[in-house]
Amino acid sequence: MKILLGVGGGIAAYKAAELARLLMQQGHEVQVIMTRAAEEFVRPLTFAALTGRKALTDLFAIESAIEHISVAQDHDLLVIAPATADLMAKLAHGLADDFLTTLYLAFTGPVAIAPAMNVNMWQHAATQANLETLRRRGHRIVEPDSGYLACGMTGPGRLAAPEEIAEAIASETRKRRDLEDETILITAGPTQEPIDPVRFLSNRSSGKMGYALAEAAAARGARVVLISGPVNLAPPRGVETVPVRTAIEMRDKVFERLAPATIVVKAAAVADFHVANAPGQKIKKTAARISLELDPTPDILAELGRKKGDRLLIGFAAETQNLQQEARRKLESKNCDMVVGNLVGGADSGFESDYNQVTLALSSGENIPLPLAGKREVADRIFDEALKLRLALHGQQITLLTDGLKS
Ligand code: PMT
Repeated sequence: MKILLGVGGGIAAYKAAELARLLMQQGHEVQVIMTRAAEEFVRPLTFAALTGRKALTDLFAIESAIEHISVAQDHDLLVIAPATADLMAKLAHGLADDFLTTLYLAFTGPVAIAPAMNVNMWQHAATQANLETLRRRGHRIVEPDSGYLACGMTGPGRLAAPEEIAEAIASETRKRRDLEDETILITAGPTQEPIDPVRFLSNRSSGKMGYALAEAAAARGARVVLISGPVNLAPPRGVETVPVRTAIEMRDKVFERLAPATIVVKAAAVADFHVANAPGQKIKKTAARISLELDPTPDILAELGRKKGDRLLIGFAAETQNLQQEARRKLESKNCDMVVGNLVGGADSGFESDYNQVTLALSSGENIPLPLAGKREVADRIFDEALKLRLALHGQQITLLTDGLKS
């Protein structure tokens, strides 16, 4: 695997050399990026000698004017060790004033962060808030060890052992390929139902949840087809994005692309109604009231449920109350294997937010309430539970087969 190793400027930077050596020993390619402060603790030449590659330090060096973009696109995983308090604050708030923090914003793959600092700094509310932001963003945090610190104090804040960081990377890698045999069809965003050539009915979906699902699936090796309503998001890397506008267009594209799909995830906020006989000309504004006649749109999820075959069908339920009951009702009425119930209408979850609070209703009868988390983290958890469910369902099939043989 091609690994980016970001090194922050703490006394634990010397341990990053040990980590680099270990990753090389495991057969990975390692490209080191150092902060200016890190160079005060370890010379770039040390990493060049260990990895066979020049350590990247200066964003404005001629040969690296846009190198942070190509370097970000050319690697599979970013691990930052040690991550100092200052570096964590910059990452959490999206500052980009050096090569490492700029590259972090350009990188779309999995990120592992191994903090190291003085115990008081680690326990400070500001550091813990930055840590929570990074965790909710779906990054793997390799918690610092407790023990004697370079500053003479004792407590949490010591960089985790290189072996533990390497294991965290390996576990992210294993997880990262667990969808490589899957073709996943995902819908995202709102639909727009024309009132006339100028106006339309729509909703507040930003597409973030569906795009997080597509990114998570692609990062874990799946072949992903994303059928997207109109959103202001860049198409995820490594994903085939198919733009649509109306519910009918979305339905047609879903069934056009359904055949190879092994998993379908319906995260789109599909309009339930469209305007009957929308005029071909702009409706002129007059003082008189106008009425719109609305017809129901095709229920794509229900139709998918009728044609499910042996694929895994995951629906969503956008509710403002009775979340668990509504999610289970939709699960049963639409023949889904899982329905992701999410509370919408609040500020911090559901539409437009970077976070979501969901309850997973599974066809196994289980309900799994998840804590408020970043949509990418929620997406990874949905796929984790989908794979477990598939195993359980597949196991049942094997049992039935065996039973058949017994009788
Ligand atoms: O896009 P974001 O801003 O990130 O917001 C995410 C989200 C809130 C939109 C997302 O998490 C979500 O809840 N998506 C489903 C929204 C929705 O339409 O929920 P619903 O309960 O109205 O529909 C239930 C299910 O039926 C959904 O899977 C929906 O895709 C599907 N449906 C609905 C109507 C229709 N005509 N066809 C459908 O397939």
